[in-house]
Amino acid sequence: MKIGILISGRGSNMVAITEAVQSGLIPNSEVAVVISDKSKAKGLEKAKALGIETLPITRKGRKRVEHDAEIITELKKREVELVCLAGYMRLLSSDFVKAFPNKILNIHPSLLPSFKGLHAHEQAIEYGVKISGCTVHFVDEHLDHGAIILQKAVEVKDNDTAETLSKRIIKYEHEAYVEAVKQVASGNLKIKGRTAILDELGKSHNT
Ligand code: GRF
Repeated sequence: MKIGILISGRGSNMVAITEAVQSGLIPNSEVAVVISDKSKAKGLEKAKALGIETLPITRKGRKRVEHDAEIITELKKREVELVCLAGYMRLLSSDFVKAFPNKILNIHPSLLPSFKGLHAHEQAIEYGVKISGCTVHFVDEHLDHGAIILQKAVEVKDNDTAETLSKRIIKYEHEAYVEAVKQVASGNLKIKGRTAILDELGKSHNT
């Protein structure tokens, strides 16, 4: 499965996915390209160091659909089948979502549907929750909304700041994203309504 990863920043989830693909932990897959809407994203250098093609595609004042159209073209050119948003700080247009039906994933640093959007760690601390975590989900037209693939719970400590909580959660994000991509790449993950179901026997059932 050819994977395209979209980033805007440091790219630690992108590195986790790429290393898992390169080590064979995610089998029969290849990271074809890493695209960033920020030309100075730190993750671009990390992707290059891992031998992955990088492509900055900045917005340049264009409408969302026009920006997205260029990204879709570049992904399709490379026959990308699965798109992973990894700290990509833009909402996708519905054209983008339709171009890759049920083939776009995102990771969010909270247990959705709690604390959508920006500053999820601050939101969790402000609310006073004792457990937070991370969620990998399919992407639809709505913010942090599509069917959930998997979640990992992480304790929130009384003296946590957004920074200490994010440092604790990010380690689980890397594990969760790798596991989710593995499930999707296996072809055994089915979506029924909002529920993603892993049918581990799927392939043998069907043959
Ligand atoms: C992660 O916390 C992710 O959940 C959120 O943005 C952050 C990106 O971190 N969507 P990185 O760029 O993968 O290091």
